[in-house]
Amino acid sequence: MPTPETSAPDVLVLGGGLSGLVTAWRAAQRGLRTAVADPAPGGGAARVAAGMLAAVTELHYGEETLLALNLASARRYPDFVAELEEASGRLTAHRACGALAVAFDADDRARLRDVHALQQRCGLEAEWLTGRECRRLEPMLAPSVRAGVRVDGDHQVDPRRLAAALLAACTRAGVVLHEAAAARLTVAGDRAAGAVLTDGREIRAGQTVLATGSWSGELDGVPPGVLPPVRPVKGQVLRLRVPPAYAPFLSRTVRATVRGTPVYLVPREDGELVVGATSEELGWDTTVTAGGVYELLRDARALVPGVTELPLAESGAGLRPVSPDNAPVLGPTALPGLHVATGHGRNGVLLTPVTGDVMAEVLTTGRLPEDARPFAPDRFPSTLQEHTR
Ligand code: GLY
Repeated sequence: MPTPETSAPDVLVLGGGLSGLVTAWRAAQRGLRTAVADPAPGGGAARVAAGMLAAVTELHYGEETLLALNLASARRYPDFVAELEEASGRLTAHRACGALAVAFDADDRARLRDVHALQQRCGLEAEWLTGRECRRLEPMLAPSVRAGVRVDGDHQVDPRRLAAALLAACTRAGVVLHEAAAARLTVAGDRAAGAVLTDGREIRAGQTVLATGSWSGELDGVPPGVLPPVRPVKGQVLRLRVPPAYAPFLSRTVRATVRGTPVYLVPREDGELVVGATSEELGWDTTVTAGGVYELLRDARALVPGVTELPLAESGAGLRPVSPDNAPVLGPTALPGLHVATGHGRNGVLLTPVTGDVMAEVLTTGRLPEDARPFAPDRFPSTLQEHTR
């Protein structure tokens, strides 16, 4: 039998990754008694992610609606990290370094031209450069780099530090942490009423937020058709170290498609160089494979030959929670009292500030802010229909 907790929070957030923690922190700031359930809060995809804030350089055809939310979140980043660092007493390694997307062969160049044209149509700041101009900015680039697009507004943050800062800010704001996963949702009448955790405790809450990343598509006890349609997409990532004698190795994020495969290198102030990422539809598999590591190093070396000299510090794999339209799923579900903050796909780190603001608004007023309406769970008709059938 589950053991009920005596003092019920107003809000129970299931999942202590970036989306769950920022939701909890913002909710607590608005005076809601808030709890988070996660066996390892501050973990999740943030342990693996590179932390590019790449609204412009990661723009894809057909994702113009998502672009508006990405840009809104990018604009909030400087104030967000300043407030979070003050509230938590921790640094996030936010770096306003800009980014450079480059091309190798004629096909890559043609692809980059298309992306640049799309960026311009969307009114974004992105400057076309020759190969020589790219190497003047980043002398470690290979001589074979033919062209590039310079985007000074795409920055980066260290997701591990960001998660640690959010966790500290949550604790300081009075958020209660339960170090256990959700085993099943509690439903009372026609409302979500909290959850039973894997340690047997039952946490009752007025509102429950499902923010368990790739696992948000499955939770026992939820009526059919309510859960968001997210799936895991695996990403393998490497962490190299730039010895002080080699610095500055790269001064900004460098990315490319190398013979059709995307790769990026994200240089941190502290000498870490993140190389990512594969994109693999392999379900829940998080194995680091020889093939994945080989491809990342092969393409990183083609881009910046000097990477082969750097110590390899770490390899890892994580799961991006991806929705059918690659955009996040935010706000109230068809089950009263149950909200979701998931489906952030490639943009979880970038979307952290706006996710916190949107979810706090939903939890305090019951309404989705205007700019978040396109990301409501009911945009997936099959989800809604199944529930109301
Ligand atoms: N945004 C980078 C990635 O998902 O790999």
